[in-house]
Amino acid sequence: MACQYFTPCEHGAETFTVMMPKLTFGRGCLAELGQRARTRGFTWVALFTDPYLRDGPFVRGALESLAAEGIDVAVFSEVRIEPDDRSVIAGAEFLRDGNFDGVVSVGGGSSMDTAKAAMIYALHPAEFTDYFAPPVGAGRPIPGPLLPHIACPTTSGTGSECTSVSVVRLGEYNTKFVLGSPHLLPVEALVDPACTDTLPANAIASTGYDLMCHAIECYTAKAYTRWDKVADPNGRTLLQGANPWSDMSARRALEIVDGYLVRGVNDATDQEARDQLMWGATLAGMAFGNSGTHLPHAMSYGVTHLMHDVTTEGYPVAAPFVPHGISVVVNAPAIFRFLADGAPERHLEAAGYLGADASGAGPDDAGEVVSNRIIRLMQDTHAPNGLSGVGFSAAEVPDLAASSIRQTRAIHNAPKVADLQSMQDIYSDAISYW
Ligand SMILES: [Fe+2]
Repeated sequence: MACQYFTPCEHGAETFTVMMPKLTFGRGCLAELGQRARTRGFTWVALFTDPYLRDGPFVRGALESLAAEGIDVAVFSEVRIEPDDRSVIAGAEFLRDGNFDGVVSVGGGSSMDTAKAAMIYALHPAEFTDYFAPPVGAGRPIPGPLLPHIACPTTSGTGSECTSVSVVRLGEYNTKFVLGSPHLLPVEALVDPACTDTLPANAIASTGYDLMCHAIECYTAKAYTRWDKVADPNGRTLLQGANPWSDMSARRALEIVDGYLVRGVNDATDQEARDQLMWGATLAGMAFGNSGTHLPHAMSYGVTHLMHDVTTEGYPVAAPFVPHGISVVVNAPAIFRFLADGAPERHLEAAGYLGADASGAGPDDAGEVVSNRIIRLMQDTHAPNGLSGVGFSAAEVPDLAASSIRQTRAIHNAPKVADLQSMQDIYSDAISYW
């Protein structure tokens, strides 16, 4: 590759793989579900959704579309917002009892991720932690295919419809960890931005931060040429580092955040902004599904592990609760200040796509340029002011770092590796920004 960032290096990978579902995007495309499912030969479908969407218009529309094609459906609506091992096992038992020939998910990342993870344990039963990476799991590969899955996102952030990962909270640790396998990739995604028209402003903001961080993390990730070459192509991890495919979609996703996030949050009637943010979320999912995220996501897990004195309006979830995108963005400015000297040009470029004025900025300014732009977007969209804005104090910094240091794979996908002390320094810097 011509780009200097992907310069070959000794023992480094020379190839990268792109994985994508068949993707349909546009207002009203959820109505295509029945025909799409029939074309794939579905006759008896498990539909995963959450209890809050269960009786709403999107699930109703999905059921009508499937019924119109003569496809029978059973609904699993016990998806937990932020799935955990118990809710995933309940989903797996539902699948095992049903003997289905296809799976549909309608909802945010929680519904899609529950469908993905439940299929693993229904089709390939094992100890729950077997398929998670060390140090919490045995790192066992998922041994074979799952059911064909059509994913229908209803929020504009997660990108899970385009990824081969599922994020699950392990009760034993009370922390989220990642399941990853090519078998987890949905076969098809129906991305209908009309599903976001009724989302409250703070959900548009939170999911927008998630998509923004997916895109910056992909763009600044360690280059794929810096990961070791693999002897068996099946062993090539989907978290393979920055690559030209992910660059392409991350760039446009960042431009969309710059152009439409503030508009989408501050004006619920701005349909163009919501359409664009949905497309941005899909693009960012296409990017991180083929490169992997890194430190902002790794360090968000400490926040959702240890959150205590925090409530979030607009989410039907018991306190304490910090939406995923908020848990990622509260640390992001401090993280990029730390990481920027690992890949200064990439940070400056990402900041430019995000609308920062980087004129006259040099490599030494990269961290400040990108973090100042993120802070400005946070302020303009009413984000919590760093960790203190979600109930944390400086005294909790060591515990936050001790929790997040276990996310080894994501930590090593960053352009510079953070050790425990670095993580403490970053969390200290993230307590407040303004
Ligand atoms: Fe995310």
